[in-house]
Amino acid sequence: MVIFGAAGDLTKRLLVPALYNLATTGLLPEHFALIGVDLADLNADSWRDSLHKMMETFVGKAASESRIDAVDEATWKRLTGHTGYIQGDLNDDALYEKLKQYLDKLTDTGGNVLFYLAVGDRFFGPVVTHIGKAGLFGENWDQDGTKPEHWRRVVIEKPFGHDEASAKALNSTILRCAEEHQIFRIDHFLGKETVQNIMALRFANGMFEPLWNRDRIDHVQITAAETVGVETRGKFYEKTGALRDMIPNHVFQLLAMVAMEPPGGFDANAVRSRKADVFRALRTVAPEDAVRGQYGPGPNGVAGYRQEKDVAPDSGTETYAAVQLAIDNWRWAGVPFFLRTGKHMSRRVTEIAIRFKPAPFAPFEDTDVASLPPNWLLLQIQPDEGIALQFEVKRPGPVVDLAAVRMAFKYDDWFPKEPNIGYETLIFDVMTGDQTLFNRSDMVEETWRVVGKILERWSAEAPSDFPNYASGSDGPAEADALLAREGRSWRPTADNGKSGPAPQTKPAV
Ligand code: BG6
Repeated sequence: MVIFGAAGDLTKRLLVPALYNLATTGLLPEHFALIGVDLADLNADSWRDSLHKMMETFVGKAASESRIDAVDEATWKRLTGHTGYIQGDLNDDALYEKLKQYLDKLTDTGGNVLFYLAVGDRFFGPVVTHIGKAGLFGENWDQDGTKPEHWRRVVIEKPFGHDEASAKALNSTILRCAEEHQIFRIDHFLGKETVQNIMALRFANGMFEPLWNRDRIDHVQITAAETVGVETRGKFYEKTGALRDMIPNHVFQLLAMVAMEPPGGFDANAVRSRKADVFRALRTVAPEDAVRGQYGPGPNGVAGYRQEKDVAPDSGTETYAAVQLAIDNWRWAGVPFFLRTGKHMSRRVTEIAIRFKPAPFAPFEDTDVASLPPNWLLLQIQPDEGIALQFEVKRPGPVVDLAAVRMAFKYDDWFPKEPNIGYETLIFDVMTGDQTLFNRSDMVEETWRVVGKILERWSAEAPSDFPNYASGSDGPAEADALLAREGRSWRPTADNGKSGPAPQTKPAV
């Protein structure tokens, strides 16, 4: 595995801990070599030491995504027993010549190479081009041409382009050097167990499918709310904004999982084609169906976005975005999908909330029908991973009265918590050549097409009302208005599946 950007944050905080977890569970190949490439002045020993030091910082940190009890030295050795480091400039041919010489000498890894581009997006095209120019993407195929005798694969991080034109240009650059089966466009949301589980929930159970359509579902809300701000990433965020950062990639992946048709099989192309169908059926969002926001100062001296490091004092970059989407197909015609994401919100919650159409009420004429809460199915992606169903029951007592209650499944109640930072499955899948959880070129291009008009409008028209939501709140009032147009409202972000009146009597367990 060759990591470009070996001294960077992603490598230290996520990739190496994920590789360590794979080594712990015995999922790293027996013959494994880890090769770092970076401009930083390091060598194999000092690079390995810096990674070890980083691992030590995760020991006992309950809140850390990479929490471990100790760095197990035998596991560490399995991971870093063969470590190489090549120092150089990513734009320099000589670097790739050195890399080629290094790889040529590696005999026990069977010629398989995974190139991981943990670098800024401006390097994606150039690095892939250089790898190709150095002849490092060549695969030897077996005699009938069905399986490479050794493989070469490249993982490309996000952002994959910043609009439809740049995504197309990047795809064509990359596809000049490597073939689609060698390219793994990663979206770390697909590494989350709860996201992968959506397909299991839908397609391994007979009870949901008959409800999963425009006859039964009123609308779908997808929320990815964060309590963190932009932290040290002001420079990146200023030119990116909340929409580009989260919606056409992470949030659309959640949308595809909910909206896709059942695939004919679970092979990569069957699954990805069904997701691509969803993206193709998405109507390009009209600017009036989108809302942007920027956080201002919050209580207790919390700084507003414009006061953050590397952010312009009059910045027009959005830290919140909400959109209403329409899917033009038989299953979803007329069912709006509302997506929202924001920084410095009241609570960290990533959730898909499916609201069912109301009951016709007739037998409950004497109850206050106007306040009958709807049925919701909640797919709780993080942090309280689980699934909850909210429905009505009769409140105990002599009169017929209704109460909303919940049935809840929590992952933690059923499965032991394994150390998992979310990249393990994805890296393992690259090593085994399974592209199911990775984006195909057509998928990326379609997703940018869907948000293209909003991006154009927002870059042409500076917002006049920024900041328009306080840090620690639920976002701008305009986002509420987006749903209110048709008499709907967002589930409160602070709620996370606990809405509806509290049960009057505790159930006997
Ligand atoms: C990243 C975005 O891709 O995803 C960040 O660039 C965001 O801004 C992050 O915070 C969210 O990921 P997660 O897994 O923490 O929900």
